[in-house]
Amino acid sequence: MKITRSITEYKRWRNSLNCTALGFVPTMGALHIGHASLLERSVAECELTVLSIYVNAAQFDNAGDLANYPDSREQDLALAEKLGVDMVILPEYDQMYPDNYRYQVDEKVFSQKLCGAHRSGHFTGVLTVVMKLLNIVQAHKAYFGKKDYQQYRLIADMVEAFFLGTEIVGCEIVREPDGLACSSRNVNLSDHFRKLAPKFRQLLMRDLLDDEVAGALSLAGFEVDYIETLEKRRYGAVTLGEVRLIDNVSLFEEGL
Ligand code: PAJ
Repeated sequence: MKITRSITEYKRWRNSLNCTALGFVPTMGALHIGHASLLERSVAECELTVLSIYVNAAQFDNAGDLANYPDSREQDLALAEKLGVDMVILPEYDQMYPDNYRYQVDEKVFSQKLCGAHRSGHFTGVLTVVMKLLNIVQAHKAYFGKKDYQQYRLIADMVEAFFLGTEIVGCEIVREPDGLACSSRNVNLSDHFRKLAPKFRQLLMRDLLDDEVAGALSLAGFEVDYIETLEKRRYGAVTLGEVRLIDNVSLFEEGL
């Protein structure tokens, strides 16, 4: 497995390839089985797989969340190697943002809803960094999790809007045995909140109105950011202690 911090070096490697199926999994590190499922799929479907690890400050609307973002670089690299990743890119801010974030990718409609309505500038940060990464990596396919369903849709639509050459593949949500969606932030939950957390998805799946779900979550001890159903998918964001959790369920699949 090759590892590079340099975009120039990555481009040199990319230009030397004669590969018709390059897969790409962008992440912010602190890898867990959700990330691993994306990497496994890429390794299975593609000739070569690239992983990027970059904690993108531009998409954090909260300095505390950024400061507390977990970092497990050594384990991440060991897992990537075990899963058969071929190249890891670990860029620094100056490499990713030679423009110091003067140029930004803005979406005006869907990014204003759900998480976008509660996290100012979040999706502009996500779309800008993903545009940069897709342009650098030049992959045939890039893999994104449906856990961040709004992010996945916004990226797929951006690729279409800007005629980018990478196919966006949406991957199913990986959950803990108790149903909690795997997330890098879960390690920051206290024991008490970790035990409470699976109730989030259980209530999202209940045959109740959005407001009733929100009420039941508040009563159970969650701080509710939003619960909203759009096109038969119920999205939610809650906070437990300092930890923000998001999830979504398809109401078609859940039979509601
Ligand atoms: P990060 O939160 O590290 O997630 C990287 C990818 O893993 C995303 O596509 C995310 O949806 C997916 N993922 C996370 N948890 C998952 C789970 N439980 N099941 C399935 N997939 C899961 O999302 C980001 O990073 C960033 O916004 C990024 C796209 C890298 C841009 O900075």
